[in-house]
Parts: sequence; C-alpha cells; structure tokens
Amino acid sequence: MKFKFFAASVMLMACAISASAQVKLQADNVDAVLKAMTLEEKATLCIGYSRAQSTETGDMIGQHADLVPGAAGMTRPNERLGIPVTVLADGPAGIRIQPTRPGTTETFYATGFPVGTALACTWNQELVEEVGKSIGNEVLEYGADVLLAPGMNIHRSPLCGRNFEYYSEDPIVTGKIAAAYVRGIQSNNVGTSIKHFAANSQETNRTGVNEVVSQRALREIYLKGFEIAVKEGKPWTVMSSYNKLNGPLTQENRELLTTVLRDEWGFDGIVMTDWIGLRNTAAQIHAGNDLMEPGNQAQINDLIEKVKAGVIPESDVDACAKRILQYIVKTPRFKGYKFSNKPDLKAHAAVTRQSATEGMVLLKNNAETLPMKNVKTAAVFGITSYDFIAGGTGSGDVNKAYTVSMMEGLQNAGIKVTETLEDLYLKYKSYEEAKKAANGVGNRWGKSLLPEMEVSRVLIEKQAKEADIAIITLGRQAGEGSDRREVNDFNLSDVERQMIVDVCEAFHFQGKKAVVILNMGNVMETSSWKGMPDAILLAWQPGQEGGNSVADVLTGKANPSGKLTMTWPVALADVPSSQNFPNVLPAAPVNRRNPQPVQNTDYTLHKEGINIGYRYFNTNNIEVSYPFGYGMSYTTFSYSAPVVKATKDGFTASIKVTNTGKVAGKEAVQLYVSAPAGGLEKPAQELKAFAKTRELKPGESQTLTMNVTAYDLASFNEATQCWESPVGNYTVKFGASCEDIRATGTFKLAKPFSEKCHDVLKPDMAL
Ligand code: BGC
Repeated sequence: MKFKFFAASVMLMACAISASAQVKLQADNVDAVLKAMTLEEKATLCIGYSRAQSTETGDMIGQHADLVPGAAGMTRPNERLGIPVTVLADGPAGIRIQPTRPGTTETFYATGFPVGTALACTWNQELVEEVGKSIGNEVLEYGADVLLAPGMNIHRSPLCGRNFEYYSEDPIVTGKIAAAYVRGIQSNNVGTSIKHFAANSQETNRTGVNEVVSQRALREIYLKGFEIAVKEGKPWTVMSSYNKLNGPLTQENRELLTTVLRDEWGFDGIVMTDWIGLRNTAAQIHAGNDLMEPGNQAQINDLIEKVKAGVIPESDVDACAKRILQYIVKTPRFKGYKFSNKPDLKAHAAVTRQSATEGMVLLKNNAETLPMKNVKTAAVFGITSYDFIAGGTGSGDVNKAYTVSMMEGLQNAGIKVTETLEDLYLKYKSYEEAKKAANGVGNRWGKSLLPEMEVSRVLIEKQAKEADIAIITLGRQAGEGSDRREVNDFNLSDVERQMIVDVCEAFHFQGKKAVVILNMGNVMETSSWKGMPDAILLAWQPGQEGGNSVADVLTGKANPSGKLTMTWPVALADVPSSQNFPNVLPAAPVNRRNPQPVQNTDYTLHKEGINIGYRYFNTNNIEVSYPFGYGMSYTTFSYSAPVVKATKDGFTASIKVTNTGKVAGKEAVQLYVSAPAGGLEKPAQELKAFAKTRELKPGESQTLTMNVTAYDLASFNEATQCWESPVGNYTVKFGASCEDIRATGTFKLAKPFSEKCHDVLKPDMAL
C-alpha cells in the first residue's frame, strides 16, 4: 500500500514536472506559462536584473551582463520556461551604451541626436517621428529591447536640471511630441518607456520630495502630456518617477498607476520603476508597478515574504507577471532578432544634423544680420565655441563618437576663424581640462562646462579689425541629480556680460555685426543683454553634428523654423513656481562643503496650480523676454482668413499659410482657444493644437487643418471630478506665437460637455 502510494506520487510529480517543463513561452501562451510559474519565479520576473547583482547572488547574470554593455538594466530570464533576458537602455537623445568593449577594437558609438527640448521646438511631429525611427533603429541594431525615453515632465521651472530632456511648459506640445517620438521608435518593433510618471519637476531631493499638486493642475498640466502619449503613442512601458506625489511614492500609488493610467486611459503595457533599490515591493506590485529596476535579490525575497504573509494577494503578482510576459513576447530578443551592431551611423548623422537646424530658434535678427553675407573670417568668442555641448549630462547623455564644435562647423562651411583667438581658446581649454583632471573632477555623466575665459579689450578690438563678424557662444550644462542655480547659470556671469559688452562695442565700432549663439538645453536670462548683439540664435544642445547644424543656419543653407515651447521670462522671480522651487537661493552648487540650502526640500507645494508658463504670463499681462511659441525665420508668412467648422465631437480649424518672403521656409502655426465665461476660471488662452507647413517656396501656400474635440477644450472641475466644457462661443486663435495672433474664428459649443473621472490623487497638504 505504502509502496503503491509512493509510486503513484512519483508518477504524478513526474507528470507535473514534464507538463510544466514542456511549457515554453510563446507569443500565444502567456496564460499557460503564468500558470506554470511558481511564486518564486513570478516574483523574480518582477524584479529587474542588473550587473551589480552578480557579486550579490552569483547567479547567471555573468552570461547576460555583457549582452549590451552600458545598457541601464534588464528583465530576468527563466530558462525552464523559455523566458529570455530583455535589455533596457537610456535615452532619450539616442541609445546610451558603452562605446568600447574589452577584447575588441570594434566600437559601438551611438548617434547623439538633439535633446528633447530642441526636438520639441521643431513643432514638427512628422520630423520627430522620423528622428524616432533612426534612434529606434540603433536600439534594435545594438541589441536593446526598450529605450528608456522619452522624458516628458513639464518645464515647471527653468531651474529643473533635466529640462533639456523634456519638451515644454505645455502639456499638449509635450504629449503630441512624445507620441510622435514613441511611434517613431516603436516602428522598429522595439519599445519605449515614457518617463518620469509623474510630476518629477525637480532634481533636488528627487527620490524623497513630495510634490504636492492640486487635482486640477495634475490632470490639466502634469498628467495631460502622459495621457496624450499613452493614447496616441501606445508606448510599451511607462517609468514611474522617484518622487512622492500628494503623499505616497508614485511607484506605490495605485490611484496613479492603475486607476488613472490603466482604467481611465487604457494603458496596457508595463510600468517599471525609475532606478532605485528596495522600497516597499509589495506596495509597488499592488499599485500596478510591474517591474522594479535595476533590481536586487532583496526585492525578490521581500516580495515572496509579503505574499506568503498575506500582505498582498498572489493575484497582484500574477497581474504584473502576466503583463511582463506580454511585453517580453513582443521584444526583438524574444523573437530571436539577429542584431548587427552596425546601424547606419552616417545616415543618422545626416538626420541629426538636419533635425537640429529645425529646432533652432532665431530669437533676434536685426537688419537681416543672418544669414551671414560676405563673411570670410569670423572671430569666435566663448569657450563653448571650442567645446560645443551636444547634449546634457546624466543618463540622457549619449556616448557619441564626436561632437562638431562651433569653430569646426564654421570651418567646414568655408568660413575662416581668426587664428589668434583660436590658439588662445584652445590653449586655455587644454589648461582647464588638465586642471580638472589633476583635481580629479571627472565627469562620468557627460560633458561639464569649462569656466569662461576673460578676453582683453585690446585683443577684442584687434579682432574687430581682422574679422568680418563676431560669433559668441554662451554655454550652459545641466543634468540628472541636481537643479540649476540662478546666479552664473540662469543669469549671465560677470565674465560673460563683459565679453558681450566688449565684443559688441568693438565690432559695432568697426561697422561689423556680433551674433550670439546659445548652446544650452534650458532657459536663461536674456532681457538685460539682448539689446547688444545684432542676432541671437538659440541652438539648444543640438546633438553631435552641432557645429555643422549651427553653421547651416548661419550661412542660410537651412532656414530656422524652430519656435519656443517655453516662455523666456525677464527674470527668474517672474516665474510663479520660483516661490516654491527649492534651490533658488544658493549661489553655489549644493555639495558637502556647501550644505543643503535652508529651504525645505521634503516637499514642494505647487501653489501656482495651473499657472505655468504662458498660461500665467498671458493671463496676467506680464512682460516676458521671449514668449511661448516665438521664433523668427529668414522669410515671412501670411495667414489667410480661417475656417472653423463644427464636427460631431468638436471642430476643425483650417488656415492657409503663404510664404510671402524671398527664401523657402516652414511655419509652425499654433491654435489657442479662449473659453466663454460660465465654466471654471481659465487662463486667457490655452494651446489646443498645432501644425507645421512643409517647406514652402516663396509664394507657395499650404492649408493646415487641426482637429479639436470638446474633450480637448475641457478643464478639470475638482468639485465634480469631471472634465467639463461649458456651452458658448470659444474664440479660436491662430498664432505665430502666443503673443502674435494672426487670425481668429469662433466655435459654438451647443451642448455642455462632461466626462467623469475617479476622485483620486488628492493633495495631502494644504496648497
Ligand atoms: C534616471 C532615468 C534613467 C535611469 C536608468 C535614472 O536615474 O532618472 O531617467 O532611465 O536612471 O539609467
């Protein structure tokens, strides 16, 4: 009897093992695989897989760690069930991987594309999609499965260190540009991870700060871009941010990750954490945060223990594991794609060179200074001219093979640069670099700025006699982990101011022009000095072809058509969030010798609510240095009378744009709407749509048509927890910028619009 029972059990066990052993993951058997998984296996799948763990666990990481060296993270394999590792790499300005590998002379450089801000300033969704296609091709060909991009947090303050990775102060621009980028990348059958969800508006204490935001501001400003990107881009993954939001960490917030993201918006991919270690794994899983990155064994143990102790039901883990399996079967690695490690870097260099010119914003161009005419020799000032900045620092920095400097770009365009100045700057650059190296100030995270060099008035006057034009580059650098400062960063430094004064005076005295190039990923003060130079070109951080792209614009080979996706205020204090943004006051970076500023950094109260950027400046008639949507061209455009037609759920707005100037160019048209009285109090006008013409030859026209729905017009009413649009006449404005409205129409909403939401994400502190 005993023997019989034993034999039967052995047979049963053998059957069970062989049945589960036969289950190998396939595109259509996710449920069966999930069923065959033990709790340990499911928990393991939910925790990321990083190189750091090889020492910790001695597990099989060794054979996987070098799949794509330099990639940020992985998901874990399961050999028994045929689940491969998948690879996640940063983003957003290109794939971030290690460019060299031991044992081979082969290199693995990626293309450094223009930063997010520059891409958004193209206002060109097709172009951004094309750039995304090229970046995605490098993701695929370098063997990664997901690009950890785009970064799409709102520019709440010009001081946020990561604004260069993000798009705009406006959620519509943010959402549409992000959706285009996602579509482009994912057309390669690799994934994206839209980040950092949500309200990750500052770097100061980013892993601890509680961002306290009203429900209305959240819905209308901070979540709206993500909502559009999810609905229109269908990203494979979303990255939850480091910060807390109205109390809990976003990563542990079920209201955010399940109620809003999945139930309301229909997101069906996976949520992964930003790169942090052990937090409350059970809370993360319960919230719907499927994957913990970069992952460690302690998190696996934590999750198993919590399930066993009944803290969360196993079904929570099942839901996350199932979504991860559904993600895995879509990946190139699961499909066995044989990547080449040889993307077409030359073709992509052309893409970055061209797309960068389209995002550049011509801020000033007195007396047609640009494009340059009869310029054979340029005197090139500013250390950044010789040390150009392709992109920001941190995980958003790409390991590119080269960056074309301003000086090289000019030389490539056949313009000589004065040798005396070049020699001086290059010597200074070597000296400063050596000094940095000697002091051990390395920058693991990308390029840091060299201090500006003082140039004597005598030398400048000599240069003004020798050269045909002066070009001054101002550089700014920022990135992950810290915010910018007002002094010597948002504002000019004394050395920079003196350089601008001296160069402009000396060149003007000789009847020659001075042009300022802004090589940065963020906003700076311009109002106190913009009167001095003849032209100002905002080049942003334009990617590895930077100097060539700028030279293309300076020489007129390309006509700039970028427009600002954020306001350039007169002073930092004018920005409403400045009252409640940490780190505004200290003049020096926060480090061990210069401890934390006196301000609180545990929480940030978004007291300004929806009064972000032009919403605030337009409504309150506050003067700015350059308004949202602004940007000049080498040509001019006229706007026809508009046509606004009702549709079944809103209206279409059309306008004919004609190139009335002498050279070919593109025009970005912005559609602002002013709501009738009767509903909630709203900003004077809000952007609801935008479109850009193709390149129009002189005299050529194109009709642009934009769609707006009643839902798009709606504001979020906290009293009813509904999106609401009151009936009445909406003024539909076609703008060349938010301050330059060229044509106006009317749309009459006959029936009130209302859509109910869940009453979630309430602030936990008074605002
Ligand atoms: C950043 C993310 C990035 C991740 C992986 C984090 O510190 O905030 O944007 O994707 O690191 O490198």
